[in-house]
Amino acid sequence: MTASSLATAVASVPIAAEPQAFEVKPTGAALGADIVGLDLRQPLHPATVHALQQAWNRHLVLRFRGQQQLTVQDHIRFSAYFGQLDQRPIGAQPLHGSTEALPREIVVISNVVQDGKALGGLGDGESVWHADMTYQPVPPKAALLLAREIPAEGGNTYFANMYAAFDALPPDLKAQAVQHACVHDASRNSAGQLRLGFKDSTDPRETVGAVHPLARLNPDTGKYSLYLGRRRGAYVRGLALSESEALLNALWAHATQPQFAWAQQWQVGDLVAWDNRVTLHRRDAFDPSARRYMQRTQVSE
Ligand code: SIN
Repeated sequence: MTASSLATAVASVPIAAEPQAFEVKPTGAALGADIVGLDLRQPLHPATVHALQQAWNRHLVLRFRGQQQLTVQDHIRFSAYFGQLDQRPIGAQPLHGSTEALPREIVVISNVVQDGKALGGLGDGESVWHADMTYQPVPPKAALLLAREIPAEGGNTYFANMYAAFDALPPDLKAQAVQHACVHDASRNSAGQLRLGFKDSTDPRETVGAVHPLARLNPDTGKYSLYLGRRRGAYVRGLALSESEALLNALWAHATQPQFAWAQQWQVGDLVAWDNRVTLHRRDAFDPSARRYMQRTQVSE
């Protein structure tokens, strides 16, 4: 984070009088670290926010365990240290019926159905590798997902490091990634559900969504990462369909290899903050009769 964006992020949130100390414990995988020793219910000092930001830039996914006591307002306040929060459109999410009672900064991801109403989105199925909302011209920078209820098995979330994937590309693929841009499909979510108002198409040349370069420079770190969004419906502008499919298949096969990934095995009270610009994530399916209930905030670019 640059000095000016840090200032913007902390300007509107409470500030502690003294810096707080914390430990950073890397997962040992290609990304991810636990942050230990911070009380997220309390305001943070700008120096603490800056140190957290450095850990986030380095590890891309930060996990804060044991946050059962965090209220919805604590979750929102802490998320605001990462930047401006997105809000749900008013009444625009039939899948998130019960969240009407929650502040608009909170989106629920859940399979729980109560009184015939789904409490959240994405159900109990697998969600495939993706970055959030890259079908928009300016996708979100970050998301902070808090586990309130989890199944005994399944529902793990995997993250992949797109700096590492870019750095390890063979030279010919790297050159093509730097040269080309790709359209990101807006029509379906990561669970494969068709969004309201979109028509189904199997021809990627007809895909509707934003166009982004396949490799992007992150302004906060000055490093390139792969920027793939989601595979379904993707199309590399300016290439024949067969060339586009071949290039995207090669990039996706490379980027989703286990050496770039880390598995988050959820515990109740885990809060996980990921950098949506430089990571992909996916989620395992889980037993439909089990309950999984997560609350998420999202930070604008
Ligand atoms: C997502 O794909 O954004 C949801 C992640 C999860 O449910 O763990």
